[in-house]
Amino acid sequence: MHKIRFFSLVFISAVLLASSFVIAGQVCLPDDVITLDASKQVKGVKKLERTAVQFPHADHFMYSCKKCHHTWDGTSPVSSCSAKGCHDQITTPEKPLEKGKLTDEALKYYKYAYHKQCKDCHLKINEENKKAEEAKADLPTGCNACHPKE
Ligand code: HEC
Ligand code: HEC
Ligand code: HEC
Repeated sequence: MHKIRFFSLVFISAVLLASSFVIAGQVCLPDDVITLDASKQVKGVKKLERTAVQFPHADHFMYSCKKCHHTWDGTSPVSSCSAKGCHDQITTPEKPLEKGKLTDEALKYYKYAYHKQCKDCHLKINEENKKAEEAKADLPTGCNACHPKE
């Protein structure tokens, strides 16, 4: 079966699942595109170097919510990524890498956290699709693909 079609099937069931959260009234689920803009969402960031990122949240509901909202318990309100003590640092950490991997400390820097989560997954999927020689879902991995030029 075609990978894309597989995604859309899972996607539909995920949306059904997702709407049950809304019906249960426990979580208000944003299913539109979410604008990720650190100058509005991360305390202390005054100005962006790049443009804000348009994130199609619902295009990702084929994954477990906890894949991204990794501290969520499944019922409480979902915290923002840059909540206090999470990914709320705004400067490059001194020693970000240990054995070639970003340290937990480094991932408190919101930029590293987003880049790691968003880009790593897209790279992996593009790679898998290339290997499988299936219709290549060319997910954004280049700077301008996520931060479009103004
Ligand atoms: C691919 C990653 C990813 C997946 C999967 C995902 N989300 Fe999100 N979600 C995000 C990001 C990024 C934000 C923006 C967070 C922020 O502004 O700090 C967000 C925002 C939210 C918000 C708003 C939180 C706020 O700060 O107001 C809620 C609620 C939410 N998601 C619920 C869900 C639920 C429920 C699921 C599963 C059906 C889900 N998300 C799946 C990445 C994801
Ligand atoms: C766990 C894997 C995963 C993570 C994490 C993830 N994505 Fe994706 N992303 C996907 C997949 C798969 C698609 C394709 C969905 C589809 O076509 O139905 C996608 C699609 C997209 C698209 C639409 C691309 C297009 O050509 O229409 C954008 C934009 C995007 N992601 C941005 C982000 C951003 C920003 C983040 C981090 C906040 C993120 N993604 C995190 C897997 C992921
Ligand atoms: C898969 C999507 C994605 C890709 C690819 C990506 N970024 Fe980002 N980037 C984000 C997200 C999400 C944020 C946090 C939200 C924001 O931009 O404010 C971010 C934040 C940033 C920030 C800090 C906010 C600002 O604008 O000052 C910079 C700088 C940045 N990215 C530069 C880059 C550069 C340079 C590249 C290419 C090497 C790149 N990004 C590739 C998604 C991406």
